[in-house]
Amino acid sequence: MNLGLGRLRKFFNRPAHGRPVRSWCVVVPRERGEEVRRRLKERNVLERHLKVAEEAGHLFIPTPERVDVGWPATEREFEEAFSPIRSYKDVVRVPEELRPQLPSSFDVVGDIAVLKIPGPLVPHRAEIGRAILAWNRTLRVVAQDRGVAGEFRVRDVEIIAGDRRTTTVCTEFGLRYHVDVARAYFSPRLGSERLRIAGQVRPGETVADPFAGVGPYAILIAKRRRPARVIAADANPVAVDLLRRNTAANRADHVEVREGDARVILKETAPLDRIILDLPHSAMEFLPDALAALRPQGVLHVYGILEDADREERVQAIRNAVRDSGRSVKGIHPHVVRAYAPTQHHVAFDVTVGPRSRRAGSARSPSASRTSRTRRTRDAGRRSGRSARPGAARGRRRRR
Ligand SMILES: C[S@@+](CC[C@H](N)C(=O)[O-])C[C@H]1O[C@@H](n2cnc3c(N)ncnc32)[C@H](O)[C@@H]1O
Repeated sequence: MNLGLGRLRKFFNRPAHGRPVRSWCVVVPRERGEEVRRRLKERNVLERHLKVAEEAGHLFIPTPERVDVGWPATEREFEEAFSPIRSYKDVVRVPEELRPQLPSSFDVVGDIAVLKIPGPLVPHRAEIGRAILAWNRTLRVVAQDRGVAGEFRVRDVEIIAGDRRTTTVCTEFGLRYHVDVARAYFSPRLGSERLRIAGQVRPGETVADPFAGVGPYAILIAKRRRPARVIAADANPVAVDLLRRNTAANRADHVEVREGDARVILKETAPLDRIILDLPHSAMEFLPDALAALRPQGVLHVYGILEDADREERVQAIRNAVRDSGRSVKGIHPHVVRAYAPTQHHVAFDVTVGPRSRRAGSARSPSASRTSRTRRTRDAGRRSGRSARPGAARGRRRRR
């Protein structure tokens, strides 16, 4: 069949509305087009992000490679389809039986896509990466996530497509963060949790974020609230370098950046109104040090990865630690941050701590006036609920 392909090629080499993309295609008479398109789709060799072209009563159906379906194949320029590709799955080429295992979601950190790939799909990881870059043109790197490990909670990643880099800049609530997905912890999934915590900070507080990573809690609090002081620290020197860079990039230079172990940082920076213990797998180990650094009235945000059945036990463990520090829990509110595993959740415990009430220390019934004062204190704790009122607390302490 002579379609004058040379002439047609010349015609179609003119740039159309979108960026012309060269691709293999199958050439079929218009009336057979739908049938052939369906066959190509079934064989998973339909290039869906390109527009089918039509010329001289024939359709040019784009394919990712030379495909033999009983019709001529050729190469030519195509316009990119205007209809957005809904998912990278529309353009990925993996064996049909593995399709159900394709990841349905992944993290996007700046221009890097970070995704977990199930074992059977690992040999196809380069193709998955290619499809993701074809699907979303703002992405420049695709990295396979092989899990977070070690004291610094650093991700083991392998670049599977795009630029060979793990650094990028991402934006969260209008703030820009330099991150290195392979050398310092950062999760874009926790943005709303950071906003929730920042929303509780009251003017004049001294806030410590001793597991700050690259700084997304501390910088958000410093920029969006009016704290007196924000201390941000981490034990990972790479995270601290990025943290310094991020405080400068966001003009949050008043965040005090430190490097070192949380226990030391807490001791050095006490007394504190609010402490964020964002080390979910071992935050409880730091609870006594955090309580020692907290003002008599203050707030702790203690994170945990917990079996659902263990949540009450964790509440009790926190109550015990507070009691052992010589104070009492005025309010404790578990908040589910996200699902972590089928029966596990990432949970935040917002703990409002206050002085031990006289009642708690004695079995004897206090006098009427003492009872009413105790009740007032307790009720105030309940009212403040999810947030402490350290300004008021300091006022009371000063009056005493
Ligand atoms: C789960 S990450 C939290 C990062 C940060 N809060 C965020 O939202 O991106 C925990 C951080 O704690 C740091 N870390 C681990 N053990 C530490 C310790 N003993 N003292 C200080 N930082 C520590 C890790 O390096 C890591 O950056």
